[in-house]
Amino acid sequence: MCGIVGAIAQRNIVKILIEGLRRLEYRGYDSSGLAVINDKKNLIRFREIGQVHILAKEVEKHNIVSNVGIAHTRWATHGKPSKKNAHPHISEYIAVVHNGIIENYQELREQLKKQQYIFNSETDTEVIAHLIHSEFKEGYTLIEVVKLIIPKLKGAYGIVIMDRRTPDLLVAVRYGSPLIIGLGIGENFLASDQLALLHVTHHFIYLNEGDIAEITCKKVNIVDKQGINVERKPIKVDIQYNFDNKGIYNHYMQKEIHEQPLAIKNTLHGRFDQNNNVIFTELDKKAQNILSKVEHIQIIACGTSYNAGMVARYWFESLAIISCDVEIASEYRYRKPIRRKNSLLLTICQSGETADTLAALRLSKNLNYLASLAICNVLGSSLIRESDFSLMTKAGIEISVASTKAFTTQLTVLLLLVAYLIRLQNKNILFERNIVKALYNLPFHIENIFLQEKNIKSLAKDFSSINNVLFIGRGDQFPIAVEGALKLKEISYIHAEAYPAGELKHGPLALVDTNMPVIIIAPNNKLLEKLKSNIEEIHTRGGLIYIFTDKNAGFINSKNMKIIVLPNIEEFTAPIFYIVPLQLLSYYIALIKGTNIDQPRNLAKSVTVE
Ligand code: G6P
Repeated sequence: MCGIVGAIAQRNIVKILIEGLRRLEYRGYDSSGLAVINDKKNLIRFREIGQVHILAKEVEKHNIVSNVGIAHTRWATHGKPSKKNAHPHISEYIAVVHNGIIENYQELREQLKKQQYIFNSETDTEVIAHLIHSEFKEGYTLIEVVKLIIPKLKGAYGIVIMDRRTPDLLVAVRYGSPLIIGLGIGENFLASDQLALLHVTHHFIYLNEGDIAEITCKKVNIVDKQGINVERKPIKVDIQYNFDNKGIYNHYMQKEIHEQPLAIKNTLHGRFDQNNNVIFTELDKKAQNILSKVEHIQIIACGTSYNAGMVARYWFESLAIISCDVEIASEYRYRKPIRRKNSLLLTICQSGETADTLAALRLSKNLNYLASLAICNVLGSSLIRESDFSLMTKAGIEISVASTKAFTTQLTVLLLLVAYLIRLQNKNILFERNIVKALYNLPFHIENIFLQEKNIKSLAKDFSSINNVLFIGRGDQFPIAVEGALKLKEISYIHAEAYPAGELKHGPLALVDTNMPVIIIAPNNKLLEKLKSNIEEIHTRGGLIYIFTDKNAGFINSKNMKIIVLPNIEEFTAPIFYIVPLQLLSYYIALIKGTNIDQPRNLAKSVTVE
């Protein structure tokens, strides 16, 4: 959500900023902008609505040479997407880029207006620029002024500040929104995400909550929340990613759907010992000891990660016999949750930076959980650093805003964890053996789904002028129906709702007529007969039925019914398997509708504000 890049160097940094923004664009793409101090010590700013390439084109025309600058790609919170609301915001010699929300901005705005400050935007960010400007007195340094204004800002934010009068310096503050420093030789960088800087460095310092950093070409000084000078250890990150390479695919989402067999293989790699028992090298003796005592698991997550948690609840309870609750982080954090006895807090988060999930984790620290365990895709992220233990998904970088391979690798880690807990707690070892076997086979089964891609593509045509779709499933396929509906909403803008099939009679059946497509996930499992009765109820009311099933389920084609027969799959891994055809269907429907598949309107990849 919003992307920040900053650079200070002895070379021209304009292209570095633009490339950084391009790499962050998936996090926010309403508008973008940059401000630099040029060789004549002028503060120059460019801002454009829309994607980064529009800004890049404009900047290129001016042949700017600069050694210091800040840049931003925006996901609008306060103030609509427009040129005047795009960052950086300026107050005479001060320029600011900001990620997050200043909650008391109205109050500050009124105070600053009384001091004759004129506001040119509707944003909360502009108050930061004016506030800094207003606090400057003879002899004050930028860092001194920044320290003065921090207590006045309420909310969550990551900010980078530049002062035209001191072009050898950038100041950054992390309060609730991620910020990292990229270290170079004779040059340093800042960003809200390490991906933005991989073209210039692989060495990073992750700022902690409340840190203020002063960055020059040669030095990085950090003071913590208490105002004490601190050394934060740099970390070398070995990620390689070619941002220009979608390979044979037209969209990142399409590529990432197809990467799933490999991503799952990578996630499984190194997680079995010679006896095929699940091992997690990340979990030390202390963690194992805690996990052996766990009697309840509280899962917290948002979006697609929440849907992974919903599947896991079925698994934890039916296979590992451990009770489990799943809750959306933004709800959990604002109620008064009661922790159950011997309970583990399990967070699931692709980015490791989702504001609500992080807030829920922080809240849980006062609730005496046995421990907090994070399942996450980004090493070094805030979630990993603040959790007691973590398990990595090895999905690789996920660029498409609609999550695909992160979801299936989260489910893979969750199922591994189920098997691990079964063994650790001496539960049903037969389940554990069968889970391991099913996980081994899973990448191969998913490969086989792609053999049906043409059929799914042609099915998508049926949905080109449809406005509503129902998804139904039962048991651990119900959350897959929810995730299928989410994919369709996100990228095709078709209204889609998911229901447990048994709930149809309690409302949604009223929506079913000859214009209502109903997508049904119906593998041959113990709930199939029940599901078949629900399908009959839809059929008799003329609903347009699409059944994703397998050979053994025994569906026979009839009027208004299309049956997509997929390969047979082991029951344990069936939820991971069945989301893939639904991802493909959503992708091809969106393709027909001509939406922006990788960057759907109004959404962002990583939601770092509440
Ligand atoms: C955003 C993304 C979703 C993602 C959700 C949670 O809404 O668009 O794809 O599932 O955030 O993200 P997280 O990083 O916490 O998994």
